[in-house]
Amino acid sequence: MTIGWAMIGTGRVHRQMAKAIKAAKDTELIAVLSRDRARADTFVEKYGIAKTYDSLDEMLQDPKIEVVYIASPNGLHARQTIRVAESKKHVFCEKPMAPTPKECRSMIESCKAHGVKLGIGLQFRQHPAHIKMREMVASGELGRLVFASAQVEILATWVPGWYYDPELSGGGVMYMVGVHRLDLLRFILGCEVEEVSAFIGEQPPDRPFEDTVAAVLRFTNQAYGTIHFSMNIPQGTSHLEVHGSQASLFAIDTTSQWWGGGGGELLMKSDKITTRFEFQKTDLYKDEIEDFNRCIRENREPMATGMDGLRNAEISVAMFESGRQGKKISIESPAKSS
Ligand SMILES: NC(=O)c1ccc[n+]([C@@H]2O[C@H](COP(=O)([O-])OP(=O)(O)OC[C@H]3O[C@@H](n4cnc5c(N)ncnc54)[C@H](OP(=O)(O)O)[C@@H]3O)[C@@H](O)[C@H]2O)c1
Repeated sequence: MTIGWAMIGTGRVHRQMAKAIKAAKDTELIAVLSRDRARADTFVEKYGIAKTYDSLDEMLQDPKIEVVYIASPNGLHARQTIRVAESKKHVFCEKPMAPTPKECRSMIESCKAHGVKLGIGLQFRQHPAHIKMREMVASGELGRLVFASAQVEILATWVPGWYYDPELSGGGVMYMVGVHRLDLLRFILGCEVEEVSAFIGEQPPDRPFEDTVAAVLRFTNQAYGTIHFSMNIPQGTSHLEVHGSQASLFAIDTTSQWWGGGGGELLMKSDKITTRFEFQKTDLYKDEIEDFNRCIRENREPMATGMDGLRNAEISVAMFESGRQGKKISIESPAKSS
């Protein structure tokens, strides 16, 4: 059974998602919503999509649309999710789910109340290396978890204009890329962050948002971690490490393909043995779309749920607060893990 998708917006991630939705099994991209008809027409022509809308209410009347992909500026995600849920259509919302935990909770409640699925665009969970790391951690192969680290270092010379409006972005590098790494650490370790201590980098006058974040994390299983993100590093890397009392995992370049690519390698080191796993490039966006479709068909939860989005927002906000106050911040009663 083919599932009909529609998307809000005609920007950067939409171009990747349009290709991925079209490539996904049993999925049809029915329509695109834009504030500008001419922009929508150019977009649909390029990607071979049937319809355009300039009103969300009108688009939500279309019976062929079952899923709405929300990839508008971060500060609009909650409002649009609630509107889509009210129309009884499923929501696939980009990361960050929303800038504040309060908004995330309202999105979860609305989707629950209207009996629709809510998935979050955290595509790096789909990478087979990260799934393998999660399984190895869960199986106890690494021994007692001791330490984990993640980073993302990029040079962002251009960002969409709405990032300059705090109401629309809610943050800078944290929500642009950092939230992907926070989420991956939670996903791989299978536990939550309960305390953070963070430095929030300078907000240069020409960019009213943080461009570098460095933090120490304490996890609920007593392991520690570090995480840093920067959009000011031209020669960056994107590695992930997990260290246990018996073995360590090193994921190399598994997150460096920004636009949905897989690839990279995973090393497992224990005593004198190093095992190496290689991964082919895949389209992680396509994988997350197919996962969401399965979750609709099989009435189960997607790989990245609303609770994951909420949890990532709680940690992000705690990190901002820690930076502001210059002290450790505990995260109260962790939301249930994925
Ligand atoms: N998972 C990932 O790998 C990934 C990658 C990139 C971005 N994202 C997320 O996707 C979302 C969009 O990011 P993007 O980089 O694609 O941004 P973008 O290129 O600026 O696209 C945003 C789109 O939202 C629409 N929009 C509606 N109201 C708007 C407003 N008030 N101001 C500006 N645009 C408005 C615009 O379409 P019209 O002008 O046609 O209305 C615009 O094309 C963000 O939440 C971001 O975090 C996720």
